[in-house]
Amino acid sequence: MKDFKNQIAFITGGASGAGYGQAEVFGRAGAKIVIADVRAPAVQKAVADIKGMGIAAHGIVLDVTDREAYAKAADEVEAVFGGAPTLLFNTAGVNSFGPVENTTYGDFDWLIGVNLGGVINGMVTFVPRMIKAKKAGHIVTVSSLGGLMGSALAAPYSAAKAAVVNLMESYRQSLAKFDIGVSVVCPANIKTNIAEATRIRPKSFGESGYVANDETIASLHSIHIHGMEPVELANHIKRGIEDNKLYIIPYPEAKEGLKKHFDEIVDSVPPMESDPEGAKKRTEALQNWASSRARVFNKEQGR
Ligand SMILES: NC(=O)c1ccc[n+]([C@@H]2O[C@H](COP(=O)([O-])OP(=O)(O)OC[C@H]3O[C@@H](n4cnc5c(N)ncnc54)[C@H](O)[C@@H]3O)[C@@H](O)[C@H]2O)c1
Repeated sequence: MKDFKNQIAFITGGASGAGYGQAEVFGRAGAKIVIADVRAPAVQKAVADIKGMGIAAHGIVLDVTDREAYAKAADEVEAVFGGAPTLLFNTAGVNSFGPVENTTYGDFDWLIGVNLGGVINGMVTFVPRMIKAKKAGHIVTVSSLGGLMGSALAAPYSAAKAAVVNLMESYRQSLAKFDIGVSVVCPANIKTNIAEATRIRPKSFGESGYVANDETIASLHSIHIHGMEPVELANHIKRGIEDNKLYIIPYPEAKEGLKKHFDEIVDSVPPMESDPEGAKKRTEALQNWASSRARVFNKEQGR
C-alpha cells in the first residue's frame, strides 16, 4: 500500500506511545483513525488531540483481551467510517520485569493475554472482515526485539512477542492472495509510557512474582526517555508498509546481537554432507505432502 488517503486505520494502544505516533503519522497521511485503548480518559484525550490536527478520528474504549468487546468495536468502526479497517495496527502491549523463576501464573496470564492474546483477537476479529471487504489492506503488529531472543528478566513478554513474530509470518504467507500485506515491527527502545504498564495490571490476575513500585517504574522511565520518538518509529512503519516489508526493525544497534543470535541457530544445523540421503527423503516427503494439501485446500475454496 502506498496511498493512505481515506484508508481506515484501527490502532490498538493508540492512546499513548507507539500507537499514538501511528495515529499521528497515518492520520496526517490521510487515513481515518480509530484509537482503541483500554484507558478511557486517555482515549478521549488522544482523539481530541488527533482531531485537533484536522484528522478524522474516533475513539473506542477496548480491552484487547475481551473478544466480545472486540467484535462490537469492529461493528462500531463499520458504522462510523462505513467499512472494515484497511489498516490494522496491533500495537497495544504491556510489560513487566522480574526473574523468570519468580514468574507467577498471573504474570504469564496477563503478559501473554495482552501481548499475544490481544493480537490473536485482533486477527480473528478483523481478518475475515478485511477479506470480505475485498480491499487492499495492511496489518502491522508491534512485537519487540525481545521477541527475537529470550530474556531472563522479561520471559513471558518475550515469549508472547516471539509468538506474534511467528504468527505474522504465517498470516503474511496466507493473506498475500487477498492483497493484504503483513508486517511485524521489532522495536528496541521507544520513548513511551510503557514503564507505567504495571499500574494497569488488573487485580484479577492475583499476585505478581515481580517487584513493581515507584522506584522500579522510575528506573524504567530512565531508559525509555532515551528511546526513539514514536512518530519517527511510525514513519519507519509507513515506509515498511509502502515497501511491503515483513520485518521492520529500524534500530542499527540491534544488528550485531541479532546476527550472533541467529548465527548460533543456523550454526547448530549440520551441513548437508552429514546426511544427504536422509535430508533428501525428508524434504521430498514434506514437499509431496504440501503440494497434495494445496490441491485439496484450493479445491475446498473453489480455486
Ligand atoms: N517502549 C518500548 O521501548 C518498546 C519496545 C519494544 C516494543 N514495544 C511495544 O510497543 C507497543 C506499544 O507500547 P508503548 O511502548 O507505546 O507503550 P505505552 O504504554 O505508551 O502504550 C501502550 C498502550 O497500550 C494500551 N493497553 C495496554 N493494555 C491494553 C489492553 N488490554 N487493551 C487495550 N489497550 C491496552 C495502554 O493503555 C497504552 O495506551 C507494545 O506492544 C510494546 O510491547 C515497546
